[in-house]
Amino acid sequence: MADSTTSTVLKVSGISKRFGGLQALSDVNMTISRGQVYGLIGPNGAGKTTFFNVITGLYTPDTGHFELADKPYQPSAVHKVARAGIARTFQNIRLFAEMTALENVMVGRHVRTHSGLIGAVLRTRRFKAEEAAIRERARELLNYVGIAKYADFKARTLSYGDQRRLEIARALATDPQLIALDEPAAGMNATEKVQLRELIDRIRRDGRTILLIEHDVKLVMGLCDRVTVLDYGKPIAEGTPAEVQRNEKVIAAYLGTGGH
Ligand SMILES: Nc1ncnc2c1ncn2[C@@H]1O[C@H](COP(=O)(O)OP(=O)(O)O)[C@@H](O)[C@H]1O
Ligand SMILES: [Mg+2]
Repeated sequence: MADSTTSTVLKVSGISKRFGGLQALSDVNMTISRGQVYGLIGPNGAGKTTFFNVITGLYTPDTGHFELADKPYQPSAVHKVARAGIARTFQNIRLFAEMTALENVMVGRHVRTHSGLIGAVLRTRRFKAEEAAIRERARELLNYVGIAKYADFKARTLSYGDQRRLEIARALATDPQLIALDEPAAGMNATEKVQLRELIDRIRRDGRTILLIEHDVKLVMGLCDRVTVLDYGKPIAEGTPAEVQRNEKVIAAYLGTGGH
């Protein structure tokens, strides 16, 4: 990973995003330190996924400033975001359904290769060596997330929980400084959630930084070092899980919308 000497991975300030008459994000600030699991929580429609879309370049914010590892960072094209060191998963799983699990992870890894399109077309020696290395690394990652036995299965044939793991493997394949997980536990049963928690813990122990959108309060409380709570696009609280949990505004926001 690049820039392992700096302690701040992502720092954003003053992020706003409007869709027509809807202020989806309003002056969001966030500082994520290296090695943290940082939680982003809030009621449905609070702007959490929009925030992910902004930091990964899918949406252009109206205002905002970004720094990645203390350097100015402009989220733009998806492959550039991956090269800059941010990878993500999607709330609505986005895999290549007809490709195998292994191929899905290999696609993630390709953003980090050097021989490029010409090398791929000419099938240069360098390209072939890279391809073999990518395949090897993809197998390791499938093993890491616990789905090695499905390497040659089409992605669409995997269970929901395993598809979420596959998305995490694909994100890890870009060797990210920051991995952003959008509701990774959604649709998982209790056993799968325990395994997911172990996986996220392991990813952190292995030196990565994680930004986590999650509804499951137990998961958030158990995993996160810090949490930001969004409500109608506005950050209403920031702190440790314990601090946030007893914050009056947070309690009101969740009760006011009926929670989840
Ligand atoms: N592309 C878009 N166009 C218009 N409205 C959007 C778009 N994306 C999100 N929104 C709206 O922005 C608000 C925040 O959505 P979202 O970020 O998905 O919330 P969350 O992930 O916290 O549930 C919602 O009201 C949603 O309908
Ligand atoms: Mg969402």
